[in-house]
Amino acid sequence: QHNPLMSRMKLICFLLLGAVGLGALDLVASLVDDQFVYSGFAGAGLTLDGSATVTPSGLLELTNGSLQLKGHAFHPTPLRFRELPNGTVRSFAASFVFGILSAYPDMSAHGIVFVVAPTTDFSTALASQYLGLVNVQNNGHESNRIFAVELDTLQQDEFRDINDNHVGVDINGLVSLQSSNAGYYVGGDKERFENLTLISHEAMQVWIDYDAGTNRINVALAPLGVAKPARPLMSATYNLSSVITSTAYVGFSSATGSFDSRHYVLGCSFRMGSTTAPAMDIAKLPTLPREIPKVRSKVLQIVLPITSAAVVLALGTVVVLLLRRRRRYTELREDWEVEFGPHRFPFKDLHHATQGFNSKNLLGVGGFGRVYRGVLPDCNMEIAVKRVSHDSRQGVKEFIAEVVSLGRLQHCNLVRLLGYCRRKGELLLVYEHMPNGSLDKHLYGHQDDKPTLNWAQRFQIIKGIASGLLYLHEEWERVVVHRDIKASNVLLDDKMNGRLGDFGLARLYDHGTDPQSTHVVGTIGYIAPELGRTSKASPLTDVFAFGTFLLEVTCGRRPIFQDPRGNQVMLVDWVLEHWRRESLADAVDTKLRGDYNIDEACLVLQLGLSCSHPFVNARPNMRQVMQYLSNEVPLPQLMSTKMSFHTLAMMQNEGFDSYIQSSYSFSKMSENSHFDEGPLDLHPTA
Ligand SMILES: Nc1ncnc2c1ncn2[C@@H]1O[C@H](COP(=O)(O)OP(=O)(O)OP(=O)(O)O)[C@@H](O)[C@H]1O
Ligand SMILES: *[C@@H]1O[C@H](CO)[C@@H](O)[C@H](O)[C@H]1NC(C)=O
Ligand SMILES: *[C@@H]1O[C@H](CO)[C@@H](O)[C@H](O)[C@H]1NC(C)=O
Ligand SMILES: *[C@@H]1O[C@H](CO)[C@@H](O)[C@H](O)[C@H]1NC(C)=O
Ligand SMILES: *[C@@H]1O[C@H](CO)[C@@H](O)[C@H](O)[C@H]1NC(C)=O
Repeated sequence: QHNPLMSRMKLICFLLLGAVGLGALDLVASLVDDQFVYSGFAGAGLTLDGSATVTPSGLLELTNGSLQLKGHAFHPTPLRFRELPNGTVRSFAASFVFGILSAYPDMSAHGIVFVVAPTTDFSTALASQYLGLVNVQNNGHESNRIFAVELDTLQQDEFRDINDNHVGVDINGLVSLQSSNAGYYVGGDKERFENLTLISHEAMQVWIDYDAGTNRINVALAPLGVAKPARPLMSATYNLSSVITSTAYVGFSSATGSFDSRHYVLGCSFRMGSTTAPAMDIAKLPTLPREIPKVRSKVLQIVLPITSAAVVLALGTVVVLLLRRRRRYTELREDWEVEFGPHRFPFKDLHHATQGFNSKNLLGVGGFGRVYRGVLPDCNMEIAVKRVSHDSRQGVKEFIAEVVSLGRLQHCNLVRLLGYCRRKGELLLVYEHMPNGSLDKHLYGHQDDKPTLNWAQRFQIIKGIASGLLYLHEEWERVVVHRDIKASNVLLDDKMNGRLGDFGLARLYDHGTDPQSTHVVGTIGYIAPELGRTSKASPLTDVFAFGTFLLEVTCGRRPIFQDPRGNQVMLVDWVLEHWRRESLADAVDTKLRGDYNIDEACLVLQLGLSCSHPFVNARPNMRQVMQYLSNEVPLPQLMSTKMSFHTLAMMQNEGFDSYIQSSYSFSKMSENSHFDEGPLDLHPTA
């Protein structure tokens, strides 16, 4: 029974089977053909592991710049390297285009390896110099069955690397069978070798071929776009039949270590049974990233924040120091001071001169402020800087004008005022330095450390100060009232000459203080009684203080002292009492041990009494004082009185003028007239 339908069915089945069979044959053919071309890896379905990825543009990125990475990429199916399981390894040819990008122009981490291996599992392999291929134990081991070509960018002595830019043929490990400096031979009439830098950020092409007949392995390298060089970079001979397994995977391995570097493969081709790799479509290859984003190394990630913090800190410190330095040296300076320019000292100079107002340079502390010793650096001149705190801005201008004009005073018995400096709330006055300090220290200092001044020295000082005061009162272009004559304002120069210091300073307090307050400038014991009423300083108020000074120097006692019974005694009254009892010599300083000129001492004491007379008009002026001291004119006799000067002064202040006048026949005495006659008339010429 022949069924045409059945035969037709059989035919269809046969055709169908045939079609399926043909399809299967195609499949087998493609498997045994064993070749591939990747002009970019988009959609290639590579077997990837580790850090390896394929970017959207088809670029195979084996490592991404992170440290201590390893990445692998393999053609997904194994290739049949032997026709028979126990046969020999066939010839093959491979080619690929790679690029290595390093964050540093002359350093990179490790490299790329072209690998033929029995497996795609490299989990036990190490990164870094092991290139993701082997580890410490299995490096070089025959069981690895690995054939590789390394593009190595670091020199590892343990693998006997020739340099940090070489190509090597590797069998089972990283000690190369043969290696060569990266580069290529340019053919032509004169063959020459061109070096290539693997980490140059340029794409390069590699050709690897194995000739099974001769066991010859050729490796060539050239910049992308340059044809395969006629002469390979190197040729090695090795029977790969002892290495490569029957079926093996073809791919790449790469690793990073401690440097930021990226390893890329742009394209790849392979052909089994031939020594010529199929051509890639160069135009279709993806491009290398232009610049790699800077990823800092671990070291830098730690070091950079620390260093930048340190830099910021250092800068901040510098700024703070500069600001503090500026503030430390800031001065007050106003337009009106321009004319006083030459007399103005920069605060910085004074600061340096006194070693920052160091307490070891402190000369003394006075009523107005501290006085520091200093040396001006440019002229090596010794100075004394008085820091006067002065908050009131009022009157400063006048005072500075005064200071500057007083700076023009030149007399061998005056301490020269060299200049000034102004800061917020303070004024600095610069004087000549007086090496022997102030007179009071010599008069009242401890006897053991300073020998007391002898009479000749004292008389010399007295005459000097009188001369200086006369200059201030009469000889200069205008009358200057010192206002604060006392032993501590008399300074001694190197020759023990007396020099008057501090003149004019009292003016500052006149200007500066509240006009409401009846503040009297001066020092108790030196203040003339009329100042209590009029507050008006005059040359004769200076003469009063000078009188006290004379007594002080001769008696070696302070203007107000305590007697053995503990009573406060006015020096003037005490001397007056001695004068009355005609025992003036007993008032002279006992520290002189009687070694003095009695006539001179008595003259000075009597002159002191008349200068310190409570009645203004009873005092001599400085010119007369000079004449008495030099014995040009004899000193008139003092009138005898039973009352102390202190009492007289009090009575005068309390309006007892008439009483005093009647009782003591000061008949013609009045505020504005001089005595023309009478016992107290000391100055018939005035
Ligand atoms: N030009 C100077 N050379 C050396 N030492 C000085 C100089 N000027 C001042 N001194 C020292 O500094 C001390 C203090 O001086 P300062 O004139 O400020 O104080 P004072 O005279 O005791 O009181 P006051 O400020 O009320 O006049 C003085 O006793 C003196 O030892
Ligand atoms: C790089 O790859 C590793 C592993 O895949 C990943 O952990 C890391 O974050 C990647 N780094 C960058 C910069 O992409
Ligand atoms: C191939 O070699 C293995 C040993 O390496 C052996 O066992 C096997 O019999 C050989 N096969 C043939 C076909 O020669
Ligand atoms: C190539 O590099 C090697 C090794 O760095 C060097 O010795 C050689 O001089 C270089 N040759 C050229 C042509 O630059
Ligand atoms: C390579 O070695 C195999 C045995 O492992 C041998 O059969 C073959 O002939 C060798 N090839 C050459 C070219 O020497």
